[in-house]
Amino acid sequence: MRLAVLASGRGSNLQAIMQSISRGRLAARVALVLSNVPDAPALGLAEAAGVPVWAKDHRKFSSRARFDAGMLEAMAAARVDAVALAGYMRLLSPAFLNAYPGRVLNVHPSLLPAFTGADGAGDTLAYGAKFAGCSVHIVEEAVDAGPVIIQAAVAVRDNETKESLMPRIHALEHRIYPQALHWLATGKLRLRGRVVHLPPAEYGEMSPHSAPSMPLPDGCLVNPPLDPGF
Ligand code: GAR
Repeated sequence: MRLAVLASGRGSNLQAIMQSISRGRLAARVALVLSNVPDAPALGLAEAAGVPVWAKDHRKFSSRARFDAGMLEAMAAARVDAVALAGYMRLLSPAFLNAYPGRVLNVHPSLLPAFTGADGAGDTLAYGAKFAGCSVHIVEEAVDAGPVIIQAAVAVRDNETKESLMPRIHALEHRIYPQALHWLATGKLRLRGRVVHLPPAEYGEMSPHSAPSMPLPDGCLVNPPLDPGF
């Protein structure tokens, strides 16, 4: 799978994706990293790994459609066949999504469909929810919307702050996102209506005996369970 990663920020999910590939787990190659923020730290990570980048300030384009058309052109030249949004903080146009139907994924720091938007984890805490978490989903046109592939839940501790919570959420994003992309790369994702299914062999029973090879942090739960190595 030739993957384009779209990132507007720090790029820790991009890094986790590239690491999972270099460790031989995620069956993909990052063919291009794109950004609407020309000085995004994510671009430095891509360049350090020898991955080509396309970075342009979206404010210099007359419309979202024109900016997205620029990305599509670069992605076609790089023979991209799937897209991962990794902290890409802009909506995508219908033309962009139609070019890769069911093949644009996003990671978001909340248990969707709750707390969409720019601060999913902060909004979860402010609401007083007792579980926070992260989700990987197939992208539809609305913000942080679309069929959910995998979620990780994190118990919210007493006196939790965003600073104390975010490292646990990020650590889980870095495990569930490469896993979801691997399922996409290996043709495992099936959509019935808006529900994502995996073949029964992939969907292990949730029990202490099916724990992943690397243990999850205390108070965390991942569903569907991670394959060994993720
Ligand atoms: C991640 O936490 C991701 O879930 C979030 O942006 C962060 C990017 O971090 N995405 C959204 O909030 C999408 N609505 P990163 O640049 O270190 O990967």
